[in-house]
Amino acid sequence: MSIITFANQKGGVAKTTSAVNVAHGAALRGYKTLLIDLDSQGNVADSLGLPEGSDLYRWLVDDEEYFQNCSMPSGRDRLDVIRSSKKTEKLKEILSSRNFRERILSIGLTDYEEIYDLVIFDCPPSVDIFQVAALVASDYLVVPTKLDQFAVKGVIEIIRSLDAVMRGTECHCKLAGILPTFFDRVTTESHQQLENLVAEYGNLVWPPIPVDNTCRVANRKGKTLFEMQTPSKAGLAYAEIIDRIVR
Ligand SMILES: Nc1ncnc2c1ncn2[C@@H]1O[C@H](COP(=O)(O)OP(=O)(O)O)[C@@H](O)[C@H]1O
Ligand SMILES: [Mg+2]
Repeated sequence: MSIITFANQKGGVAKTTSAVNVAHGAALRGYKTLLIDLDSQGNVADSLGLPEGSDLYRWLVDDEEYFQNCSMPSGRDRLDVIRSSKKTEKLKEILSSRNFRERILSIGLTDYEEIYDLVIFDCPPSVDIFQVAALVASDYLVVPTKLDQFAVKGVIEIIRSLDAVMRGTECHCKLAGILPTFFDRVTTESHQQLENLVAEYGNLVWPPIPVDNTCRVANRKGKTLFEMQTPSKAGLAYAEIIDRIVR
């Protein structure tokens, strides 16, 4: 089982879009995949057209002995999800007084080891207990980033968090790639910021995902890019990213 975290402390950089489409793309290629929403906004369920729910709370608080019952089918073959909701804020409070809280996700996942080939965490836009716990549980980190003037700074911040987590705990997570999103090939800003990222991180910078309104339309419809009637630029770009993740 491989475990991948999509994280960046900034909101609106396409963390959820990337996590959802990579998860569905991997499932379409035959990988039994579990997508876990760690953000109290619960956007994963919306993006997949699923009803709201607080499976994360149930998984980590209510149902400790029955971890496996907390993932639900997404209605797509080989893709299950653990949804999040406002209740996740309460969960953070509960966890704040627990020992080994940064290991809660890695401990929880041991029950799923035999079931899934791939686990994907979609993180909240903040450095909180879930981002730390996701890094501790993960093999790889992917950092989606918008190509604006703060892009490089945001990436540096998340890489610092990873370094701090690695120093303080038993964490084997590696930076797999930086995923530039909202790439607009007609603006010089996009090209400039992409160049800056490449200058800083070399071939850790993955091919960019173009800005594409299909992402918003798909999101509103509760569909992934691979369920839209016509292939989209962003869908094709994500397919290339999935090649790097599942070979
Ligand atoms: N490549 C893209 N082109 C245009 N819109 C996008 C793209 N990727 C994501 N979006 C839209 O941007 C918004 C924020 O994306 P989201 O994945 O929710 O970001 P985050 O999880 O980092 O907060 C959503 O409405 C989403 O549909
Ligand atoms: Mg999100």
